[in-house]
Parts: sequence; C-alpha cells; structure tokens
Amino acid sequence: MGTVTADLFDAAAMYDEDYLYFFAGSDAGGAPTHGPVVGTAYAGASAAADIVWQLLDLRPGMSVLDLACGHGVLANMLAARGCRVTGLDSSAVFLDRARADAEAMAVEVEYVSGDMRELPEWTARFDRVVNWTTAFGYFDDAVNRTVLTQMARVLRPGGKLAMDLDNLTKFLASYTPSRVTALRDNGDMLVDRHHLDPLTGRFQVERTVVRDGQARRLTFVKRLFGFPELRDWCTAAGFTRVSGYGEDGSPLNAGHNRMVVVAQLP
Ligand SMILES: C[S@@+](CC[C@H](N)C(=O)[O-])C[C@H]1O[C@@H](n2cnc3c(N)ncnc32)[C@H](O)[C@@H]1O
Repeated sequence: MGTVTADLFDAAAMYDEDYLYFFAGSDAGGAPTHGPVVGTAYAGASAAADIVWQLLDLRPGMSVLDLACGHGVLANMLAARGCRVTGLDSSAVFLDRARADAEAMAVEVEYVSGDMRELPEWTARFDRVVNWTTAFGYFDDAVNRTVLTQMARVLRPGGKLAMDLDNLTKFLASYTPSRVTALRDNGDMLVDRHHLDPLTGRFQVERTVVRDGQARRLTFVKRLFGFPELRDWCTAAGFTRVSGYGEDGSPLNAGHNRMVVVAQLP
C-alpha cells in the first residue's frame, strides 16, 4: 500500500519501558497526559470503558478494534465486558504487557503487532474501532488522513469509530512552555518542554526522562485538532454523523479536558 513515510519522531523511544514505569505501574501517577492540561480525564480505565461503551453503543459479542491499543488497558477491559477485541500496536514492550495483563484477567484479546499506517486485510471486519488517549496525529497530514481512511475500511457498514484526543480549546487555554509531567517519590521524573507550530497544527515535546539519576532526551509530536477540522477529515474518509463529546460523555465544551470524536459509517 506504500503509506508508511518517514516518522516525525521515534515512537519506539517514546513508547517503551520508561513510559510504562511512569504511567502504568501500580504507584504511577495515573493516565498519561502529555501537554499543558493537568488532571486525569477519566477516573481510571473503568470510567473510560464506561464512556466508550455508552458512546459506541457497545454490546457483548461485538467485534472491536483498539487501534494503537498501547499496553491494552482499554482492550482488556472491553474484552472483560464481553466484546471480541483485537488490539494493534507497534510497541512490542506494550504488547507484551497487554498480553500478560489479559492472561492475569483471564480475558482473550487478539493482540497484533502492526503499524496503523498499513492495517492488515481486515476490510469490513469490525463493528467498532476505538483509538484512545491521543493515539492519532503522529504523521504528516496526508498520512494522518490515510489512517482515518483505513479505520473506515476495516469497519462494517454502519460501524462506529471513537477517538479520544486533546480538547484544543482547553489545551490552548492551559498552555505552559514546560511541565513536570510525571514525578515519583524517589525523584524520578519526566520533564517536558512544549512547542506549538501554528503552521502545521503540531505540538512538539522535548522530554527529559530522569530515572535512577540518569537523564535521556526524546522528542515526540502530535497533531492538535479543533472539532470542525477533524469532523471534516472524518467526512472525507467516508464517515457521516460525526459528533464531539467531552470526557463525561456530554457534548463537547471549552471546559472539557478531552475531546471524544464519534463517527459512523453510512
Ligand atoms: C498515547 S499511546 C495510547 C495507547 C492506548 N491507546 C491507551 O489508551 O493507553 C499511543 C500508542 O500509539 C502507538 N503507536 C505509535 N505509532 C504507531 C504506529 N505507527 N502504529 C501503531 N501504533 C503506534 C504507541 O506504541 C502507543 O501505544
């Protein structure tokens, strides 16, 4: 298909064991947020699953693709509620963790190592696609739009997509040039410097990972979307009935930390 282009950042350096240490350990600070908006959007994975369940009209037995599923928190939770879940991610470290947690929870999830830019031949296979915790917008815009088109391709007619992203209005109102994004009692921390590029709509972060007295640097990039722009992208990808909600499931407003975009195929 030839959609894989040069990366804007090194995803393997970002989504690694350090990330799990700061965001997924038993005493980690909570759900990962990367940017100026402080505060956990969903009160735990169960609350996120409740919102997904409600907004996607999920029912036991439905087939769900969790695209860029990370370490499988949501995928495992939806499987525990009776969905037939496939999780795809590019991080081997995260997939190992997702599989181990699925086993511990005694749930079955098909975990697939892959790249969201080139999905397998899954045409019309899924009832629902979820893409959670700002797991969209890592590439240049032509490729980002290709990812959306592939989400539409793998959904059945009438299928629905839910994407959890930053709420741009709140993000800009909260903007700070830097932030200690995670801090552990032993002094380990993530310190982020923020850069906004209004010409590309991208947010770039220079991260310093401090762990056991050692520091390393990485950068990552994510595209910021206002609702009308992403609605138009979804429509161009073949979706209709595109709606925007906040983390509490009510219609999106300026005070929400998160923007959940729900789009349906005709
Ligand atoms: C912010 S995390 C979100 C993970 C998960 N959805 C969650 O809610 O915890 C973004 C995820 O995107 C994955 N990712 C990055 N680039 C990817 C790519 N090209 N294809 C598939 N997954 C990718 C990362 O490995 C990471 O798990």
